[in-house]
Amino acid sequence: MADYSNITLDVQDRIATLSVNRPDKLNALNEQTIRELGMAMDEIEQRDDIGGVILTGVGEKAFVAGADIAELSKMGPVDGIEVSRLGQRVFRRIELSKKPVIAAVNGFALGGGCELALACHLRIAGENAQFGLPEVKLGIIPGYGGTLRLPRIVGKGRALELMLTAQFIKADEAYRIGLVNKVVPRPQAAEGQEAPSARDALLAEARAMMGVILANGPIAVGLAIECTTRGMEMSVDDGLAMESNLFGLLAATNDMREGMQAFLDKRKAEFTGR
Ligand code: COA
Repeated sequence: MADYSNITLDVQDRIATLSVNRPDKLNALNEQTIRELGMAMDEIEQRDDIGGVILTGVGEKAFVAGADIAELSKMGPVDGIEVSRLGQRVFRRIELSKKPVIAAVNGFALGGGCELALACHLRIAGENAQFGLPEVKLGIIPGYGGTLRLPRIVGKGRALELMLTAQFIKADEAYRIGLVNKVVPRPQAAEGQEAPSARDALLAEARAMMGVILANGPIAVGLAIECTTRGMEMSVDDGLAMESNLFGLLAATNDMREGMQAFLDKRKAEFTGR
């Protein structure tokens, strides 16, 4: 296991929780943090004890409040290209992960933080989450794939509204426009007691959703991610050809036999990922 300083990686019951851990900087992504996220995704891909990933931020206030502005403020044009390419490479790695990745958005998801959530396969937000792409306020544009991913998820008009106004939206609005899959309400305090942590409630919901996904055939889940992600980037004819080839490929797996036999036997399937 690699040694990380700006992220944490915990694994329980086949679910990895990958947390950005710079709470005093609202989990802003400096270069080291982005590199560590890439290393963690490599580790996750290789580890057989991990079926899926929940990506979140440490603390109750922020998922990730963006790229590290203190670091960005010093860049020149050549570094700018490198900074953008590094983030793009790591976020693409997340987007094309065969293992499902759910963003559990526990607070601010701004700029690069919003783009990080967009690179995940699903997004669940706490009631206190806020989303925004405020880059133009800083005289830049989103540089980690946000200009491509946001319009694909919410449509061009809404994507440009967020990018051009630089305004933040709350979790309920993010749900309304299809930016998040689910909003988890803040847990209520029982009489005379402190309210349970909103982040814990959010992570519990993300784990429940991941549990449902991990009960399914893992090869099929991985190929559904790949086919959908790549399919949206190609012509319909090319995408359909890829879909039928991957559909056929699954007929070569033990998991397909097991999934169908289990249905016919009226029992729960036991998938092996083979
Ligand atoms: N990069 C670097 N540092 C950041 C940061 C970022 N993107 N976002 C927050 N921080 C740091 C602040 O500088 C501050 O550090 P300090 O205590 O050493 O001064 C710390 O995190 C806490 O943030 P603060 O601004 O004091 O919290 P707040 O509650 O007043 O405001 C935000 C919260 C999210 C509204 C505000 O931090 C913000 O606007 N952040 C930048 C968002 C952004 O533009 N992101 C896109 C970057 S491309």
